[in-house]
Amino acid sequence: MKFDILTLFPGMFDGPFAESIIRRAVDNGLIDIRLHNIRDYAFDRHKTTDDYPYGGGAGMVMKVEPLAACIETVRAERAAARVILTTPRGKPFDQATARRLAEEKELIIICGRYEGVDERVRELYVDEELSLGDYVLTGGEIAAMVIVDAVSRLVPDVLGSADSAAADSFCDGLLEYPHYTRPPEFRGLQVPEVLLSGNHQEIARWRRRQALQKTLMVRPDLLATARLSAEDEKYLQELAKV
Ligand code: ADE
Repeated sequence: MKFDILTLFPGMFDGPFAESIIRRAVDNGLIDIRLHNIRDYAFDRHKTTDDYPYGGGAGMVMKVEPLAACIETVRAERAAARVILTTPRGKPFDQATARRLAEEKELIIICGRYEGVDERVRELYVDEELSLGDYVLTGGEIAAMVIVDAVSRLVPDVLGSADSAAADSFCDGLLEYPHYTRPPEFRGLQVPEVLLSGNHQEIARWRRRQALQKTLMVRPDLLATARLSAEDEKYLQELAKV
């Protein structure tokens, strides 16, 4: 998977991509991340990348010409790339979107800044706009990091078997069950007996029920689209009674 990130602040990406799983994936050639400074494509002496909005109003708008030059340069080498703009105006980024994007070979991510991006950038180049959630960040860089992270871990071989994506929260539309490791008791809190039992069928049942309980309490909206068995439905009905 090849990521090309277009940003006014490439330095922001130094930390998140230099550690842990993403770093290993880059080192192993499983993913490739290139950063492009939009300012390098500004054509005037002052390297201007923003301007006042037509029609007035607060804040500045990212200019179309530097972005167009940057996108066209990158696209010349990434003919198949899907172009994403990070903006609070976008569709919410979720696990299903991460899975869909992980099927692509090339992604270009444009990080929006200021009050927004000249609408013609979207019209000419952008395939989809993505938002991290219903809040406003100082810019789209952190959203781009989140997208790269969530998509990369779904690229084959990026996760070792130790950190497999198979049992993730959201993998079948539920929140994950609780985890425990040694010691068996801490400050009077015991690890649930069933996890020490060695009975894999009972453990799987307990975990499933915990996942259902947690989802019902914290994110009941997820139950509408989760993949539920008849036994799951029955358990949820029992929970609803108490
Ligand atoms: N830029 C500013 N806020 C954002 C958000 N919530 N998601 C994506 N990009 C953003």
